[in-house]
Amino acid sequence: MYLKQIKLTNFRNYAFQSIGFSERLNLISGLNGMGKTNLLDAVYYLCMGKSHFQSTDKNVVKKGEAFFRLEGDFLLEKDEKIVAKVVPSEQKTIERNNTPYPRISEHVGLLPIVFMAPDDTALALEGSEERRRFMDNSLCQLDQQYLESLVAYNKLLEKRNAILRQFAAHGGFNQVLIETYNHQLTEPATYVFEKRKWFNSLFQPLFNHFYASISQEAEPVECNYRSQLYDSGLEHLLTNSLEKDRQLQRTSCGIHRDDLAFHLKNLPLKRFASQGQLKSFVISMKLAQYELLRQHKQKLPILLLDDLFDKLDDRRASQLIELLVNGDFGQVFITDTHPERAAEMTSSFNGDYKKFMVENGVVLE
Ligand SMILES: Nc1ncnc2c1ncn2[C@@H]1O[C@H](COP(=O)(O)OP(=O)(O)OP(=O)(O)O)[C@@H](O)[C@H]1O
Ligand SMILES: [Mg+2]
Repeated sequence: MYLKQIKLTNFRNYAFQSIGFSERLNLISGLNGMGKTNLLDAVYYLCMGKSHFQSTDKNVVKKGEAFFRLEGDFLLEKDEKIVAKVVPSEQKTIERNNTPYPRISEHVGLLPIVFMAPDDTALALEGSEERRRFMDNSLCQLDQQYLESLVAYNKLLEKRNAILRQFAAHGGFNQVLIETYNHQLTEPATYVFEKRKWFNSLFQPLFNHFYASISQEAEPVECNYRSQLYDSGLEHLLTNSLEKDRQLQRTSCGIHRDDLAFHLKNLPLKRFASQGQLKSFVISMKLAQYELLRQHKQKLPILLLDDLFDKLDDRRASQLIELLVNGDFGQVFITDTHPERAAEMTSSFNGDYKKFMVENGVVLE
């Protein structure tokens, strides 16, 4: 599977651009702020139906324009044309071979993709939301029902929280309504919980393997799934926490509180890891995500590596390149501010590469 050609119209700082890619390695260089990350985000958008950055579509449209359009010619078993047409504040459309999807969620998973970026360290350093997003991003690409369950759960959760706030504001209480929400939340929550458990059991050995090869260290690393649902079913948890929830005016139990616990040599990663160990840790997480998708989708996902070399020391960078050349990887996009460094890499790829230069939203080959 690979992206043969992309056309961008009014996408971030791109006015119009048509680019043909190598099916193996694509090196995108350019100075800061020229549009390298934006180009990777366009590729991501076509695969996932949304930006990798948590920006609303309004910010994705080129400033001063009313819409954006992306067109990607992919090769899977056959040619597949994917088009995203987005007018903010209107329903966006994603088309596969000129037929619009009734729901965007039906597109997610067709074109598996992994985005590796320097700020991935947020996975270890920031709050639990980042880590849930990591699990969700992987699972949504593996299982459509997961995405649908997650959406259903979040909508119900929002409603339950709104009603808790309403009770507090107006002094009323409606037991039956709360119990209805408790009941309705349980099915999607249980589905998400079971899938996250499944994901974690497969993820852990892959993660260990990549950590060992990137860091060349044999220290044990762990990434453990934590959830209140291990203790009891959601409906029971919600019933028990009702008094607390009424005081807090929000739902204190559920899969929206799940987390991943990271350990290195049995110590919590956040407090004890060195900068280098932290980087190896998050890179290994992304590589394990790639491998998991590869095995379960039976195709080679697209790999986006943003600004990799700025943040990696030489040893880790060459370890990673060796993995990319010799491992099971398909189409790879790498951005870098130094064209010379990019040039060094190409020798390992035996001519199977293309180099691009980005200047203010214009891409030159
Ligand atoms: N909606 C938009 N409309 C117009 N320009 C935008 C929009 N969104 C982002 N930009 C511009 O895109 C540029 C940033 O592009 P991008 O992040 O791709 O740069 P980069 O080449 O990756 O830089 P760096 O090397 O610093 O990572 C900024 O100048 C920003 O103002
Ligand atoms: Mg960038």
